[in-house]
Amino acid sequence: MSAPVRIAISTGGGDAPGLNSVIRAATLSAIRRGWEVVGIRDGFDGLMFPERYPEAGGTIELVRNVVRGIAHLGGTMLGSTNRGNPIAFPVQQPDGSWMTVDRTDELVGLFRAHGIEALITIGGDGSLTIGQRLQSAGLRVVGVPKTIDNDLDMTEATFGFDTAVEVATEGIDRLFTTATSHSRLFVVEVMGRYAGWIGLHAGMAAAAHAILIPEIPFDLRAVADMIRRREARGARFAIIVVAEGASPAGGERSVIGRSVGQAERLGGIGSWVASELERLTGKEARTVVLGHLLRGGTPTSLDRLLGLRFGTAAVRALEDGRDGVMVALRSNEIGLVPLAEAVSRMRTVPLDGDTVQAARDLGISFGDEPVGDEPTGEEP
Ligand code: F6P
Repeated sequence: MSAPVRIAISTGGGDAPGLNSVIRAATLSAIRRGWEVVGIRDGFDGLMFPERYPEAGGTIELVRNVVRGIAHLGGTMLGSTNRGNPIAFPVQQPDGSWMTVDRTDELVGLFRAHGIEALITIGGDGSLTIGQRLQSAGLRVVGVPKTIDNDLDMTEATFGFDTAVEVATEGIDRLFTTATSHSRLFVVEVMGRYAGWIGLHAGMAAAAHAILIPEIPFDLRAVADMIRRREARGARFAIIVVAEGASPAGGERSVIGRSVGQAERLGGIGSWVASELERLTGKEARTVVLGHLLRGGTPTSLDRLLGLRFGTAAVRALEDGRDGVMVALRSNEIGLVPLAEAVSRMRTVPLDGDTVQAARDLGISFGDEPVGDEPTGEEP
């Protein structure tokens, strides 16, 4: 297969720090090869609904000066969306109910109409699944893994995660001041969807006393025991990190919204944990939801570098005639993995991994310790 001469770049799903580094890297390395690069606005909306962009246009020619000075900026210069998934496009019926339709073939036709031979799709599981579908429908696609959640299988890292952990760690660090001054409990809710990577890494880095993650259903009586034991030693405050997807043993995830064709929106577990801990311990508990702060602002140098490596590797893959693949970090080298495999499984925190073991050795509670038992070790 010969190398393409006109390629497109699209960013979909939640923004993640480092997206602009990928866009810049892919654009510059494509231009160096004499290719043309088209940026699609807001996922695929710019192609599917150009009428929504009367002034700027639904697509943008990415030339050298358009991608100048963007690698250190958060967000995505192309815009993003997690609505209007083309493979499960929501359509309202005359009776008011909703159904979804697959608009993949129509979208592939639009790429062809724009003279675009290949797509670099930068996204998480949702956008990469769309990419996989477009590839099956005849478009050449290379995926670039993006998510602050770090939950994509087949890659050891996704850009955005490091920045999210850094911001969460600083946020938790700052709460120690008031927690110690007022002898309070602070419950810090962090993003991460169904994986506990952000909560685990930031919680450990910031020396939280309990970390509740989706992979370990929790019992708050165990956390309350830990708080009481700290209290008995004169440590009258505690910081509890809870990942938004965490749930009590035998309970449900806390969901705040669901729409047709979209992923469910998680949230609210932090305030529930805080009110339960108040009830169980009699101590004042406050909730801080870090939410989208974790996705905003300047990417760390690690995320920028990963974005630059991924973006250039995606172009090299197309040049080598590869498609239907995702660039991935494997043993600290960028490799290619089949797109279909990359989206087939979510990567969650391994419970037998050394990071969870380290947290347990430090005395951090996951809320799964035996309740009411004598402590087996010192809490931090
Ligand atoms: O996947 C990234 C993420 O930030 C998750 O951690 C979070 O659950 C979700 O996106 C929030 O998405 P939105 O900004 O659409 O509410």
